[in-house]
Amino acid sequence: APAPPLTFVIFGATGDLTRRLLIPTLINMSRSGLVGDDLHILGIGIEPGGVDMLLEKLDSFLATSGDMQEPERQQAWQSLRKRITYISGDFTQNAVYDEISKYLSQAPSANAAFYLAVPPRFFGDVAEKLSANGLMTETAGAFRRIAIEKPFGHDLTSARELNARLLSHANENQIYRIDHFLGKETVQNIMTTRFANMMIEALWNNNYIDHVQITAAELVDVGTRGKFYDSTGALRDMVPNHLFQLLAMVAMEPPNNFDAESIRNEKGKLLKALRIYSPEEAATNGVRGAYTAGPLNGNNLPAYTGTADVAPDSSTETFVALKLLVDTWRWAGVPFYLRTGKALKARDTEIVITFRQVPFAQFPRPASRPQLPPNRLIIQVQPDEGLDMEISIKAPGLVLKTVPISLDFRYADRFDIGKQTGYESLFYELFVGDQTLFQRADGIEAGWAAVQPFLDLWAEGGKPDPYAPGSMGPACADDLIQRDGRAWHQPDEKPEGKKV
Ligand code: BG6
Repeated sequence: APAPPLTFVIFGATGDLTRRLLIPTLINMSRSGLVGDDLHILGIGIEPGGVDMLLEKLDSFLATSGDMQEPERQQAWQSLRKRITYISGDFTQNAVYDEISKYLSQAPSANAAFYLAVPPRFFGDVAEKLSANGLMTETAGAFRRIAIEKPFGHDLTSARELNARLLSHANENQIYRIDHFLGKETVQNIMTTRFANMMIEALWNNNYIDHVQITAAELVDVGTRGKFYDSTGALRDMVPNHLFQLLAMVAMEPPNNFDAESIRNEKGKLLKALRIYSPEEAATNGVRGAYTAGPLNGNNLPAYTGTADVAPDSSTETFVALKLLVDTWRWAGVPFYLRTGKALKARDTEIVITFRQVPFAQFPRPASRPQLPPNRLIIQVQPDEGLDMEISIKAPGLVLKTVPISLDFRYADRFDIGKQTGYESLFYELFVGDQTLFQRADGIEAGWAAVQPFLDLWAEGGKPDPYAPGSMGPACADDLIQRDGRAWHQPDEKPEGKKV
């Protein structure tokens, strides 16, 4: 069913995010019937001008987008375009909120979702102004919601402050904190993979699982994002948010219900069970790296410290690897190894569950590898979305020889998920009022609490270890896992015996 009628209010409407992501998402949604003709868009921006100025910007961007060649998309845009209004004004001043009030009081529906495409330091200010001007008050069944996207603070203290401030101007059920990883089909599928399958969930604990690896490797370098990235770094950019969302989905207890509160309760519980390391433990369980100059993808990449808007003596990391522990009955003794970085060998986001050795096996094995390879379940989040289950079988022939093979499922072989931005499901849930895919304040704070010891340690000094572009990170990342007798799963690794 299409979402209820509403006005989607975009703060920062003339910015890059609006044309690159928000509008294409709304076009896709209207093309697939997720929103109807009763969706209106109100753009707010500091740029002077009327709606024609905004439309011209949007038109000229969309004209360069290959996707718009499709007649259905073009049609959806032509219809949507007529329902856009623009108010030029400064969102730190009350005047613009008066105008928004006026607009909403005359709009066909009083429902509104405010999307804050503004620098994160203004999240609190805009929420305060919205509330002071009565715009967060839900009357006569009309909803008022705020959507914001990370960063939610830059450490535990600032995250707490931001949450407290937001919550003094809006209720938790009006605040939609976006983590775009939760818009990915493969991430949403983690719960189904676990809880709809006896043969998976029954083994999902420390009796059968040896360890878990979560990797978000990126080919892209820091590029033009130096200013943002140098004050952020790989840890803040990816770990307490995206990687912890994956971790929470993989490790949480089954919720009693699939409603937003039940799921967020379980995720929150799990994140609160992450071991908070002492400074000494942080020093041995986390490593960081920064890429050096070198060839990547046919180009000559400058070192991270040679990137525009990055301090030449920067100690910001572009790679991080952590070994984390989850202190629960289910996971005691099972390490979770997490890593993410830029300018790596491949784009590869994956979760690898490695099972324990079989307790006893008489299969003849080569002397060099006396153990059977362990079973693995690989949740391939992106690209080449799918699931792989690695098991051992008997190689055909007279001699008894085991060989690992992989049972592969690829979304592309089975489904047509079409060209999506990944925000369609997030916006739909925002419009219908389902917070399942959004982060709650307690989960965010628990995430920051678990990474804070690393932030503190690295703030004391020292530099990230160098790694070559096109590698899988610095040598210290390999040491982190190898000292436990384990190895990172390689992006292109196939079980022995698999035809590739
Ligand atoms: C963003 C980070 O949140 O996620 C980026 O700020 C990162 O640095 C991106 O590249 C990764 O998202 P995806 O969907 O491309 O894996």
